[in-house]
Amino acid sequence: MPCFIDLHNHSIFGVDDGAYNLDMSKKMLDIAYNDGIKTICFTPHFKAHHFSDDSTIVAYNDRISKNYLTLVDYAKTKYPDMTLFLGNEVMFHSDLCDSLSTNKCKFLGRSKYVLIEFKPETSEFEIKNTISRVLRKGYNPIIAHIERYVAFQKNKQLLVDLKNMGAFLQINSLSVTKFKFGRVARLIKYALKKSLVDIICTDAHNDSDLSPILSKAYKIISSKYGVDYASNIFYNNQFKILNT
Ligand SMILES: [Fe+2]
Repeated sequence: MPCFIDLHNHSIFGVDDGAYNLDMSKKMLDIAYNDGIKTICFTPHFKAHHFSDDSTIVAYNDRISKNYLTLVDYAKTKYPDMTLFLGNEVMFHSDLCDSLSTNKCKFLGRSKYVLIEFKPETSEFEIKNTISRVLRKGYNPIIAHIERYVAFQKNKQLLVDLKNMGAFLQINSLSVTKFKFGRVARLIKYALKKSLVDIICTDAHNDSDLSPILSKAYKIISSKYGVDYASNIFYNNQFKILNT
């Protein structure tokens, strides 16, 4: 089993709907490390409509930085070969590019890749429009958990269009292991079969039903779609993203 890199993860305590205290964050890091995840980029939610003004954004980001450093200290002591980065999972909004350029929200680590989420019912037009605005700015958009969006479930060709535009596509490991039938399973199967998926991440929110596990999905994908493709979407592509 190779080492994994997780670029979508809510293990930072007390900031969003992920880990709700330090103890849970530590347990999540323990689970991840024991699963072979040696590099994590934490991606707390950034939802512009949750903030009343810029000072509340500053306070939110200060809390994230402080709690992130607490986890860096924990990992340094317990898992010296673990590397942690900071980013955001950014809900699409009209000022998204401004939010990035003014550091209100973060790219993944030191890269110019940004993890963007949409609402399940966001239209094809809105998704394409957001992605092209981000690309025009010279940033690299990664669309979070593509399996969730109705627009893609209804029109799978849209994934090809977005890839051709320059977007990167992410799916959640739990969706691979959990859904065997239905719209989500069909979309995942289509995207994997056509090698459209760029990265698989945990989107972990806790230490129980949404824990940071990649090995189970890796086993399924490497046996169905080959070890080379699995290595790319569980490690190689993530490595390139963090080091670009
Ligand atoms: Fe997420």
